Amino acid sequence: MEDVNRDRFIRFIDIINEPYASWIQTILNVYWREFSSIPATKHPNRHHPSERIYPYGMINHSMRTVFIARLLIVEENLISFKNQIIFSAAFHDLGNIRRYNGQSTYKMHPFESFSMIEELISIPDEDKKMIKNMIENHMHHWFDTHAIDKFDKIIAYADYLASRPEIELNGIEYFGQVK
Ligand SMILES: [Fe+2]
Ligand SMILES: [Fe+2]
Repeated sequence: MEDVNRDRFIRFIDIINEPYASWIQTILNVYWREFSSIPATKHPNRHHPSERIYPYGMINHSMRTVFIARLLIVEENLISFKNQIIFSAAFHDLGNIRRYNGQSTYKMHPFESFSMIEELISIPDEDKKMIKNMIENHMHHWFDTHAIDKFDKIIAYADYLASRPEIELNGIEYFGQVK
């Protein structure tokens, strides 16, 4: 069952270009079990209601973020960067694994997300800066970090919109029992 759901998530991300397709496999080989078992939030009644249900809360939130990022990529005419943007959208909250197991904090989770990716993958310099900025600045609505370019803004907006319970997205088949 676990592999079926993992494959479903990979299909949803829908990146077939290398090296990104392999990077996704590498990350999920190590982190799927934990990533798919954490919630989208510690405060399920305040945020993320549509994807709050364990154990796939963070996967559902990540899918919503990917979905919205894809719309923004078209709107902003950034198709040529879709691998970098969708990859960042899919894993922007990976660092919450360390937050939920007590190794890190809410404030640090964007930085943990990129560290965890970088520990597994050697991202070429030309993509590294962009991906690092997108992931590390995704909380700029709430933290003092600032979205410094249009790529960072896309992930920050996608994350924010994905967290809004009033936004229903047709086309996402959520994992778990979502009410
Ligand atoms: Fe986050
Ligand atoms: Fe998020």
